[in-house]
Amino acid sequence: MSSFRLRPFSHWLLALFLTFTAVGQVAAQDNATVSKEGVTPGATAGAAPAAAAGSAPAGDAAAISAGDALFKGNCAQCHAINDVVVGPALAGIEQRRPLPWLIKWVQNSSKMVASGDEYAVKIFNEYQKQQMPNFALSDEEITSIFAYVKAEASKPANAAVGGDDRGAEGKPSGEVADGAGAGAGKYVNVVLIVLIVVLIVLVVTLVIIANIMRDVLRGRKDLDGRDVEMIDQKTDWMAILKSGWFKGTVGTLFVLVVLYESIQGLMAIGLQQGYQPSQPIAFSHKLHAGEHQINCAYCHTSVYKSKSANIPSANICMNCHSQIKATSPEIKKIYRAIQRNQPIQWVRVHNLPDLAYFNHAQHTQVGGIECQTCHGPIQNMEVVYQYSALTMGWCINCHRETPLNTKGNGYYDNLVKLHDNANAGAPFTVSSNGGTECSKCHY
Ligand code: HEC
Ligand code: HEC
Ligand code: HEC
Ligand code: HEC
Ligand code: HEC
Ligand code: HEC
Repeated sequence: MSSFRLRPFSHWLLALFLTFTAVGQVAAQDNATVSKEGVTPGATAGAAPAAAAGSAPAGDAAAISAGDALFKGNCAQCHAINDVVVGPALAGIEQRRPLPWLIKWVQNSSKMVASGDEYAVKIFNEYQKQQMPNFALSDEEITSIFAYVKAEASKPANAAVGGDDRGAEGKPSGEVADGAGAGAGKYVNVVLIVLIVVLIVLVVTLVIIANIMRDVLRGRKDLDGRDVEMIDQKTDWMAILKSGWFKGTVGTLFVLVVLYESIQGLMAIGLQQGYQPSQPIAFSHKLHAGEHQINCAYCHTSVYKSKSANIPSANICMNCHSQIKATSPEIKKIYRAIQRNQPIQWVRVHNLPDLAYFNHAQHTQVGGIECQTCHGPIQNMEVVYQYSALTMGWCINCHRETPLNTKGNGYYDNLVKLHDNANAGAPFTVSSNGGTECSKCHY
């Protein structure tokens, strides 16, 4: 009997506590992926795993991997396969809508909503009238995106929650979309909750058993002094607190937490993501670019033509505001600036350090990238904030993943041929063309 000890029980309790803490961390990370209006871009990138070439017929592999890159370059900041991000989860979309509809939608969703297409209007309203940007993608490119979506959605890990039970006749049901989106996350949570309940039941049972055993042993007469001492022993918390292993564990945990936080802090130096200064005039992009659908380039006139996108001068405002709301105190501020012949003192939101070279025309006009890809849902912003991280890693990642638009450009014909011969099937990305060379972005 002398081998019966209660002390391991308290050790076990501590281990249990640590398990709970770890479980809590995982749950917290789950929640942290959702932030204001959008979603942390890093999280969405993670949510769209690598190409599904393996699980598809060989003929489709190239289309799927091209679709993978296109999806990550254009769609991933708003869409994931199984999760609602800014827009709906795309799993099972090919059953909800036919391909020709999807192609039209991606190329110009606002036109479809305006035309009164029943499904388009419904989904638009469901997502708080957030407009999905238009994409200058070819039919073929869009087809490859949905081939990729389909391949991702049918991967075994997702199949359990992705759902073969989805209406085969393609009923456009909002619930279906939501269910598929939240499915994967919920599944993990359910497993965690079940585990926690099991652990609690185990603890309670063990305490009861320990008590019963102690009572039984107390009733026995044939125990010697040491055994009695062992049975009556109380858990000595002071001894535990003073013990070397306890101090060691707490010390190590403390050092690890401090180290982790410092590294996170250091990484964030110079990061301005989410920066949203207040502006001298309550100018709203939501009102102008969103509700009144004024084209971005009406105000940012040089964005398709030159390196920098200009901020409009007060004269551009006056094209409309010489008439509209002329008596509003906010509009009077524009008049005052013009009378004094001084520019409006807008506070700059986006600002790369001088060591980096970024050219708008190269991305918007030549590359055909939508403003929203980098600046987020500007047309929904009352006050502009910095949506992307604007770090070097952010630039480079996109250059690695985005295929270069080489169609109809004779300059690229030979290059692409050489590239394709050397890299069977891998898309000709911006980086294949040298877009990750230091001197391209650094003076
Ligand atoms: C800036 C955010 C954003 C980007 C980028 C974006 N979408 Fe969307 N998408 C949305 C929103 C929001 C909706 C919901 C409808 C609406 O509000 O217009 C949507 C809806 C959809 C739908 C209909 C989904 C359904 O369940 O019926 C499809 C399909 C779709 N998007 C495909 C794409 C593809 C493909 C891309 C990339 C080429 C893309 N989207 C890029 C925001 C975005
Ligand atoms: C009616 C004129 C007007 C239209 C249309 C407009 N903008 Fe602006 N934009 C402004 C003004 C004025 C500012 C400076 C004040 C501010 O930051 O809100 C600005 C600022 C911005 C900034 C932040 C610049 C900085 O300081 O870093 C971005 C990004 C931007 N606009 C993008 C867009 C996009 C994308 C669209 C189209 C969806 C758009 N704008 C449409 C007038 C306009
Ligand atoms: C193409 C026309 C157009 C241009 C250009 C334009 N606006 Fe507007 N603006 C509007 C319209 C339309 C409204 C909404 C008026 C209403 O709500 O009745 C508006 C409303 C506003 C309001 C809200 C006024 C209030 O008191 O409700 C402000 C502030 C404003 N604009 C500032 C600006 C500034 C600053 C510029 C220049 C960078 C600008 N606008 C350029 C059309 C324009
Ligand atoms: C590939 C990413 C990308 C795209 C696409 C993009 N921008 Fe930008 N934008 C940036 C970066 C990066 C900056 C900061 C530039 C700097 O500080 O030199 C910026 C800055 C701006 C500014 C502040 C003025 C300036 O030039 O620094 C405005 C306004 C702006 N963008 C508007 C737009 C509009 C409108 C569009 C779409 C027609 C657009 N951007 C498309 C990345 C992008
Ligand atoms: C959303 C994707 C995306 C992001 C983000 C992006 N780029 Fe690009 N970039 C492109 C594409 C696409 C091209 C190719 C345009 C073309 O020539 O067709 C390009 C081309 C370039 C080029 C010319 C490369 C060459 O080979 O001539 C430079 C320089 C560049 N980008 C700088 C930057 C910098 C700096 C940033 C970050 C501040 C950035 N880019 C962020 C997509 C992106
Ligand atoms: C696609 C564009 C691009 C390419 C290619 C690129 N950089 Fe950068 N780099 C940037 C941008 C943008 C920044 C500023 C990022 C910031 O402020 O966080 C930057 C910042 C830096 C910095 C300063 C870091 C800091 O914290 O201030 C160094 C050093 C640097 N880059 C070195 C390099 C080297 C070496 C290469 C080649 C291997 C390279 N870069 C290639 C875009 C690029």
